[in-house]
Amino acid sequence: MSRLVNWKPLAERLRSEIGEWIKTDAIREAFANTPRHLFIPRYLDYTFDEDAKRTRWVPVEDPDPDLIYSNTAFVTQVQPGAAGGTDMISTSSSSMPGLMADMIEELSIKPGMRVVEIGTGTGYNAAILCHIVGAANVATTDIDPELVESAKNRLNKLGYHPTFTPEEGSYDRLIATHAVDNIPYEWVRWLKPGGVMLADLRARNPMSHIAAWAIVTVDDNGTTATGKLLPPRGGFMGARRTLRHADHDVDTPRKYTDTARLRTRQVIHPKAILDDAEFEFFLWRSMPSAVWSRPWPPGKHEDPEDQRQVMTRDGRWTSVSAIDAGYMTPDDLWGDIELAYDKWTDAGKPGLDAYNITVNTDGHTVVELAVSGAEDTA
Ligand SMILES: C[S@@+](CC[C@H](N)C(=O)[O-])C[C@H]1O[C@@H](n2cnc3c(N)ncnc32)[C@H](O)[C@@H]1O
Repeated sequence: MSRLVNWKPLAERLRSEIGEWIKTDAIREAFANTPRHLFIPRYLDYTFDEDAKRTRWVPVEDPDPDLIYSNTAFVTQVQPGAAGGTDMISTSSSSMPGLMADMIEELSIKPGMRVVEIGTGTGYNAAILCHIVGAANVATTDIDPELVESAKNRLNKLGYHPTFTPEEGSYDRLIATHAVDNIPYEWVRWLKPGGVMLADLRARNPMSHIAAWAIVTVDDNGTTATGKLLPPRGGFMGARRTLRHADHDVDTPRKYTDTARLRTRQVIHPKAILDDAEFEFFLWRSMPSAVWSRPWPPGKHEDPEDQRQVMTRDGRWTSVSAIDAGYMTPDDLWGDIELAYDKWTDAGKPGLDAYNITVNTDGHTVVELAVSGAEDTA
């Protein structure tokens, strides 16, 4: 049951809190005049059970509006991971308003433009877009029809009637609010020639923490799209491939159990190299099948003695400690990661801005490291 909320001063306060990401009046007005609490009647709070070493989600009904009008993301749906296990994984949320404003500004979304949003979720970002460009110019889509239905009801109550079925060749801008490891070609088709999209492009690895925003422009023929990566910013949850699972963990390899084959090696580079976001991106492109573990939640039980594991989907495995030893399969996975680190260092530690992105008609996103000419395909 939602209470009567004097939300205008709260929305104005939120607008001011995220002021550093807002440059234009239309976006300023949109945040100051959109009732966020209507889109988040309930959220899921997160606690970490130290004993069980797992995350627990606790529903918060009719949340405090003071909190809702803050620059905070709220998880609104969790589902079991497709790879098994007992942990529930977040599958929908209302993103941080500052992050939303940053994306909208980066795309230079202006009144009258036609915009398609991927990931309707609560509908709050769609409402912001409707305010800026007019609801008749907005399309928004989500894999989950129940989320779409709730968002539609909320938007309609505010007098907004965007479409939930994007049309081909129709939009000036596309904003993706879930991450992808390969930009779907459909997104190119939805944009007009010269249309621009922004999407968080990163490894399909639940432990990946880099957010590489790809900003990509469709060519004059409307067939391919090219662009660049922006410096690391806030990240989004991974894409789901199925409705009822948070299946961004589906490809996680099983833990290595063939202990008889393990041997110990001295590390040359410590496990901390995996914490460098820009090396992490380079490693993903050089070794797309690698999945690595990370202390979770970040900073909580981070013990320098903890081991860090890396696995590949074709069965390789290594565990690296902070001290000096790595326990490896005979194929020396950590040695290969160290070689990748040396290659990245020799190339001058290229940052995200050193990559060129092309979305080809065959549906592949090509990520090309401009400095070395190295090329690979997702
Ligand atoms: C961060 S939430 C979106 C937040 C939303 N824009 C808002 O303002 O509330 C990401 C959304 O992406 C959706 N999603 C995930 N995978 C998808 C896919 N393959 N296709 C379409 N939507 C997807 C999820 O269901 C989720 O609602």
